[in-house]
Amino acid sequence: MVPYEPGTPIETVMRRYGLEDVVKLASNEMPLPPFPEVKAAIIAALDGLNRYPDGDAFDLRTALAERYRRPLEEIAVGNGTCEMLLHLGDAMLERGDEVVFADPSFIIYKDVCMLREARAVAVPVLPDFSHDLEAMAAAIGPRTKMVILCSPNNPTGNYLPAAAVAAFVERVPEDVLVVLDEAYNECVTAPDWQDTLPLQAEHPNVCILRTFSKVYGLAGLRIGYGLCPPPLKSALDKVRQPFHTNRLAQVAAIEALKHQDRVLERRSQNAAARQYLRDALAEMGRATIPTEANFMLVDIEDLCHPQHHVCTALMALGAIVRDGNGLGCPGWARVTVGTRYEIDFFLQRLRSLERPASR
Ligand SMILES: Cc1ncc(COP(=O)(O)O)c(C=O)c1O
Repeated sequence: MVPYEPGTPIETVMRRYGLEDVVKLASNEMPLPPFPEVKAAIIAALDGLNRYPDGDAFDLRTALAERYRRPLEEIAVGNGTCEMLLHLGDAMLERGDEVVFADPSFIIYKDVCMLREARAVAVPVLPDFSHDLEAMAAAIGPRTKMVILCSPNNPTGNYLPAAAVAAFVERVPEDVLVVLDEAYNECVTAPDWQDTLPLQAEHPNVCILRTFSKVYGLAGLRIGYGLCPPPLKSALDKVRQPFHTNRLAQVAAIEALKHQDRVLERRSQNAAARQYLRDALAEMGRATIPTEANFMLVDIEDLCHPQHHVCTALMALGAIVRDGNGLGCPGWARVTVGTRYEIDFFLQRLRSLERPASR
């Protein structure tokens, strides 16, 4: 296996290139800190750190159950949704089982399979980079245990309308788990976006994963959650560590949930910044893929040469973005939507790498 390669941390780039001003647009984090009330809640909880956290995260699960009007047994939490995906593999997969997902999509899905010696059935996306739901449904076979839909999809940024998801789920056998990975759900502003939660009423084989890492600005604490059928919650309990989500993360997430007005504000801010980035790149003659998330694929093919790694060159100038090569999108860079300052910083570095002859 190849270890997961995250976006290079700011501190590493500062050290490596002797830079003071570095902007990281490589890991799809929100450019904003946690809400002030969340910071206060974390500080207030510090004195309790001599105690283990509640392994069952009762208070956080209760808060989520109230928010989504669901029974407590349907709420699972994890040390980030990454952990939950790995736990889903531990709980459900045996050697030779199959997992269907789109290609490219979140690279962890392949690891989930590999760790369990399951077969990754990665179905190429359509030319417009959207999930090929027809081909994905056709790829489900007798050994398929799980299908993962990622919406908005990482790294492409496009989303699946709820009606398309509903029609797809209808075609999935009841004994196959459908995982809807909705890490960027709160960023979507498309008018035809609808919540997928009602789907679960008729389809108990649907599990929805969401996270506090993105719009809530809590990536550093590691906390995510799943709305899932109770037997799946019980299965996840069997494979997790006793105290997998930490005390500060639980407290922070409970507080963060109380501030949905700020979530909406951040959604609009992200949408405006996304548009600004898209327009600026269009003015530079650069193609992007329409995105509803807080990141964007940017065409950099003209700047890619065997001896010239454009993302490395950008990094040396202090702009950390993600090379599409490692994400199944050669010729593209995945750029997180940052603040106006961060976007301008990136654009300025990108312009400095463009040579008139190459365009
Ligand atoms: C599609 C998708 N799912 C899940 C995650 C993991 O999020 P978390 O921080 O909750 O582990 C990410 C993170 O970038 C992601 O892009």
